[in-house]
Amino acid sequence: MTELTTNRLKLAPYADDHLDGLNTLNSDPEVMRFISGRPETREETVAVIERVKQRWTEFGYSWWSFIDKESGLIIGAGALQNLRREATAHPDLACPLEIGWRLRRDYWNRGLATEAAHAIAGFAFNTIQADEIYAVCHPDNLASAKVMKRLGMQYAGLQTWYGENLVTYQVTSQLYLK
Ligand SMILES: CC(C)(COP(=O)(O)OP(=O)(O)OC[C@H]1O[C@@H](n2cnc3c(N)ncnc32)[C@H](O)[C@@H]1OP(=O)(O)O)[C@@H](O)C(=O)NCCC(=O)NCCS
Repeated sequence: MTELTTNRLKLAPYADDHLDGLNTLNSDPEVMRFISGRPETREETVAVIERVKQRWTEFGYSWWSFIDKESGLIIGAGALQNLRREATAHPDLACPLEIGWRLRRDYWNRGLATEAAHAIAGFAFNTIQADEIYAVCHPDNLASAKVMKRLGMQYAGLQTWYGENLVTYQVTSQLYLK
């Protein structure tokens, strides 16, 4: 399990004691609006942490909590995971790697998602040695698409992922690391 650091954040692989912080994040309907469309229950967050811990062991990458270095609070979360075409819970290892992010609402508009995303992209290309990474979002999720653009990702059109038509961006290691 790999911890990452940025100027303002520590990115820590999900752990049992992240439950309160992650549930605060994921139970906000506004944060979940373009993700599942509904707030996550505490029981669901428990199950997610368990699944993510297994993925870290199995794959060597998965979800991190974003911890504000100053306050020690969990202020967001992000992932490197395999995309899937269908709306199932199981990763499709034949599919490309996806980078993703979410922040607590009171931490939006400070550049923190982009800062964390750069750390995850660096991990993807330098540690996992990925050739390319993808990012996807609901067509109305303009804030997330802006993070993709700020990362230097390129628009690849609307594609079917998770059983939905999603705005898709991608960047190769060659382009990102140049
Ligand atoms: C997607 C999401 C993480 C984007 O958050 P965000 O705060 O807009 O993105 P960043 O943290 O990178 O912040 C960038 C903004 O902060 C501004 N900013 C303010 N202070 C800054 C600073 N010190 N450094 C950098 N940027 C700063 C930037 O100008 C930019 O604003 P702009 O987009 O109006 O130009 C957030 O909207 C969210 O959590 N949404 C709900 C979850 C979600 O939908 N996740 C994506 C699923 S695909």
